[in-house]
Amino acid sequence: MTAPQERRPSMRGGISLRNAAVWVLAGALAWLPARCPGAGFTLDAPLVVTEMAVEPQAPPAGWTSNGLLRADGFEGARLVLVSTQRQSRLLSQGFVSACDPNVSFDGLRLVFAGKKDPGSRWRIWEMGIDGENVKAISPENQDARQPIHACTLFTLESPEPWFTIVYSAREGAELGPPGGPKANLYSIKLNGRELRRLTFNPWHNSDPFQMWDGRVIYAGERQALEPGGAPGRVGLHAIHVEGADMEFYGGGQGGRIQHMPCATERGQVVFVEAAAGRWDGAGQLAGVHESRPHLTYRRLTDDPAWVYLHPSPWKDSLLLVARRPAKGAGVWEAGVFDTETRRFETVFASPGRHVAQAVSVRPRPRPDGHSTVVDPKYDTGIFYGLNCYDADAALGPHLRTGMVKRVRFIEGILPSAGGAPSKAGSETLATARRLVGEAPVEADGSFNVETPADTPLLVQTLDERGLALATCGWVWVKPREKRGCIGCHEDPERIPENEYVLALRRPSNRLALPPDQRRTVTFRDDIAPLLKEHCATADCHGGPDTPLAMPLTAAPPSEESLRRTYQALLAPRDGSNPEEGKYVDAGRARTSWLIWQVFGADTSRPWDRKPGTAASAARKTTPMPPAGKGKPLRAEDLRTLAQWIDLGAPYDFPQGSGKPKLAQNP
Ligand code: HEC
Repeated sequence: MTAPQERRPSMRGGISLRNAAVWVLAGALAWLPARCPGAGFTLDAPLVVTEMAVEPQAPPAGWTSNGLLRADGFEGARLVLVSTQRQSRLLSQGFVSACDPNVSFDGLRLVFAGKKDPGSRWRIWEMGIDGENVKAISPENQDARQPIHACTLFTLESPEPWFTIVYSAREGAELGPPGGPKANLYSIKLNGRELRRLTFNPWHNSDPFQMWDGRVIYAGERQALEPGGAPGRVGLHAIHVEGADMEFYGGGQGGRIQHMPCATERGQVVFVEAAAGRWDGAGQLAGVHESRPHLTYRRLTDDPAWVYLHPSPWKDSLLLVARRPAKGAGVWEAGVFDTETRRFETVFASPGRHVAQAVSVRPRPRPDGHSTVVDPKYDTGIFYGLNCYDADAALGPHLRTGMVKRVRFIEGILPSAGGAPSKAGSETLATARRLVGEAPVEADGSFNVETPADTPLLVQTLDERGLALATCGWVWVKPREKRGCIGCHEDPERIPENEYVLALRRPSNRLALPPDQRRTVTFRDDIAPLLKEHCATADCHGGPDTPLAMPLTAAPPSEESLRRTYQALLAPRDGSNPEEGKYVDAGRARTSWLIWQVFGADTSRPWDRKPGTAASAARKTTPMPPAGKGKPLRAEDLRTLAQWIDLGAPYDFPQGSGKPKLAQNP
C-alpha cells in the first residue's frame, strides 16, 4: 500500500504565510532591540529563535554528566520571532521558560517545549506563529522536550491518517539527576491523544529529526554492554515514525558524541560532534549523506575558534545554526552555514542574550507518509536472524559453523522512579536484567523468535556451554512488528542472498512469558545457595585457609557474610582496569575465571584477547570442585552460573522494578 502524500501546504487557520509575514512587520510596537550583522544572505522568511540570558555560562547546578550528556538547561529562555528585516518580537508570553521551536508543515503553527511556572515540568505546547491560541499537548507528568511535527501515519485499522508530533521525554514520579529515568522518544496526536512510546533503549534518547523519506533520526546514548567493550557514546540512530526497525545510522566514524541531527534539502545529514561532552552540547559540524550514511562521513567544520549548536534546515545546501566562541564566556548567535562552501554568516544576534535554535518559518513539504502493521493491541513481535555466522570484522573470522547453539533474550528493567544513579561510563550493573528466554539457532545460523514487544532487549548468541559469544543491544520490537536482521552486523550496504533459511520453515519460538514470570538470576537467591552447597564447605572456600573466602557455612548465611562473599567474587583483578574482575567479569561469563574453574577450561574467545589487556594465559585453570573433594556441580548449576554472569552478576533484583507503564492523558 502506498500512502497518499500531502505535499501542498494547507492554509488552515485562515492566515496565509504571506499574511503572517505582513502581520509580523506590523507588530512594530513589540519589537525588541536587535543587531543584524550579516547582510550577505537574504533572509527571505521569518525565523523563530530561542533567546536566553547570558549569565548562566556554567553548567546548571546539579548537572552530573557521565561524560556524554549535555545539560540543555534553557531555564528562563524565551521564543522570539525574527522578521525578514531582522527585527524580533516575543512569542512565548506567559511562559517562564520556552525553547525547542518547530514549525508546522504549512508554516503557520509552532510546537515547542515550555513551562508556565518554574516548579512545573517541561511540556509540549502548540501555538500560532503569531503567539496566539496556545494549547498543551503532552501530559503533565512527563518532562518533555524537542518536539517535531511528523509525517502522517497510516495504520491498518484506521483509514484516517494521523497527524502526530514526536518528542523526547522522561517520565517517573521523581526525575532527579541524569541517573534517574532516561529520556525516550514518544509520539502523540496534536489533540493530546494516542500517546505512544517509540524507543526502548534504557539510556537517553533525544534530538528527533524526520528525514524526507519519513524515517526519524535521533541521538541515542549507548554504553558498553560487555566489560572492556567500546566506551560509551552518543550516536545517531534511525526508526520509522512508529518506533519500528531501529538501526544505527551512519558509520560510527568521528567524535564520540554525535547529536542534534538535521538534513539539508540536498540530503546532507548534519550533526554536532565532539570528542567529549560539553554541558551545552556544542561541538563541530560533521555529516553523512543520506544515500550512503555508512560510508560518507565527513567533517564540515574544524574551527579552533568556534563551536556550533542546533543546526536546522534552511534551503538547498544551507542550514541555520548557532555558534559561540570555543573558549571563554562568549555569546551564542544564530547564523547560516553553507554545507558546500562551509561558510558561516551571522544572521541574528541579540544584545546581552544567547540566540540559538533558529528555525525557518515557511511552508515545507510533509515527509512521506508511513503505513505500519504495528498494532498496540498485541504484546509481542518477532525477531528473525538469517545467519549468526555473518558477522563484523572482529567476530566474523573466528566464527565456525556449529559454534552458535542458542540465542538468549534478556530484558532490561528500566530504573524505577528515583532509582539509584547509574555508574558512569559502563553499562554493566546499571540496568537490572531479567531472562526472557533462550531459543535454538538452526544449523545454518538462523533463528526465529517471538518476544515481548516494547521492551529493551539484549540478544546473546550462546555456545555449547551456554556462554554468550557476543551481546547485541539494546534492541526492541514493536507490537506485531517482524524485525529481521542478517547476522552480527555484517557490511551494512550488502544485500543478503535470497535464502529460505531453516528457522523460517517453522513457527517462531515463543519467549513471551508475562513479566512476573520472567526469571532473574541473582547472587542472593540463586548463586549463594549453589556456592554454599558445592564450594563453601569448612575445609574448602568456607574455611580460613583459602584465597577466595566465602563465609557461607552458617545456615542460613547472614546478610553480612553474603555481602562479603559477593564482594570477594566481584573484586577487581587489579586497580588499573576496574572492569576486569579477579573471578567475575560482570556481564561476560566466558572470560570470568570463576567460569574457567567450574568448567575446567579457558572459555575465552580469540576476539577477547585485545592487545594491552592481561593475557588470559596468565591464569591457571584447576577444575572445581577438585576431584574427590566437594560435590560436583550439575549441568544446570553451570548454566545458572553462566547466566548470572552474562546477566551482569547482580547481587539482588532491585525493588519496585517492573514494566514501565505509559502515562495517558485523561
Ligand atoms: C551476536 C551477534 C549479533 C547478532 C546475531 C545481532 N547483533 Fe545487533 N549488535 C551486536 C553488537 C556487538 C552490537 C553493538 C553493541 C554495543 O555497541 O555494545 C549490536 C548492536 C545493535 C544495534 C544498535 C543498538 C544501539 O543502541 O545502537 C541494533 C539496532 C541491532 N544490533 C540490531 C540487531 C537486530 C535487529 C538483530 C537481529 C535480531 C541483531 N542486531 C543481531 C551483535 C549482534
